[in-house]
Amino acid sequence: MSYSEILSFVQFIHYFTIIIFLTFNITNVLSIYEVGVDYHAFGTNFTETAFLTQYHISNVRSIVLVQLQGIADGGANFVTLDIWFGSEPGKITDEHWLATFPMSAQETTNLNQYAADVASIQSKIDDHPLHLNIALFWLGIADYKIGNLTEGFGSDYLNASEFTARIEKTTDCIITAISNIRCSDGTLLVQTVYLEAEVMIGAKPNQDWFISTHYPRFLNQITVAGFTPAIYFLVDAREE
Ligand SMILES: *[C@@H]1O[C@H](CO)[C@@H](O)[C@H](O)[C@H]1NC(C)=O
Ligand SMILES: *[C@@H]1O[C@H](CO)[C@@H](O)[C@H](O)[C@H]1NC(C)=O
Ligand SMILES: *[C@@H]1O[C@H](CO)[C@@H](O)[C@H](O)[C@H]1NC(C)=O
Repeated sequence: MSYSEILSFVQFIHYFTIIIFLTFNITNVLSIYEVGVDYHAFGTNFTETAFLTQYHISNVRSIVLVQLQGIADGGANFVTLDIWFGSEPGKITDEHWLATFPMSAQETTNLNQYAADVASIQSKIDDHPLHLNIALFWLGIADYKIGNLTEGFGSDYLNASEFTARIEKTTDCIITAISNIRCSDGTLLVQTVYLEAEVMIGAKPNQDWFISTHYPRFLNQITVAGFTPAIYFLVDAREE
């Protein structure tokens, strides 16, 4: 090859690389930015209408199915289900927003049915599917901010090993409920599962214990099941 041939070859590679780079970025941008909504209650009164714990009631499920179709037709690509754990196993409560800690068999069945229902939805406008993310919150008897390692954690002061066993059981119930549920296009329905939706480093008691004790197993189990494990951060953005 002559010098000018080498030069034009190098230029060709250069432009070729730029084109690949741009294409990659455009594809990346198109696939990264998606719009979705937090959806966990079918009415304005959250205590009464949070649906996960009551999804076995056929009327609740029918309302949710209609609303999901509306969400997809409105253009959303995903819905995020927030689950607040913290109710005692076996306790009858009308606080429908609070799930059992650990997650109960009924709630696991309900999550499985809800996931299958989300997977069955396709936009009537352009056929796009709806995906699902799940974010976990810990309150009541699961509120790790209460207590400490010697006293136990949560409003019932469960000892650390009991508390951890319940977190693990809850994680496993969620995986059982959502595993292998796919959208009509063959992709996995669930994308991301957040272990803790409001991480505030240093601002919440015991959060370091909670994350360092539970995140490694969560990370592993959720990844093995094919989903993306995550936590997300919350800041108190007041200007003082
Ligand atoms: C929501 O429902 C609960 C339970 O029925 C009730 O106690 C509460 O007052 C209601 N809240 C509002 C704002 O209506
Ligand atoms: C745990 O809390 C109890 C009661 O508030 C306190 O007496 C104890 O010192 C605490 N233990 C640790 C390790 O912080
Ligand atoms: C923790 O609590 C559980 C359930 O109450 C109990 O079975 C277990 O013995 C306790 N473990 C320790 C180390 O206290």
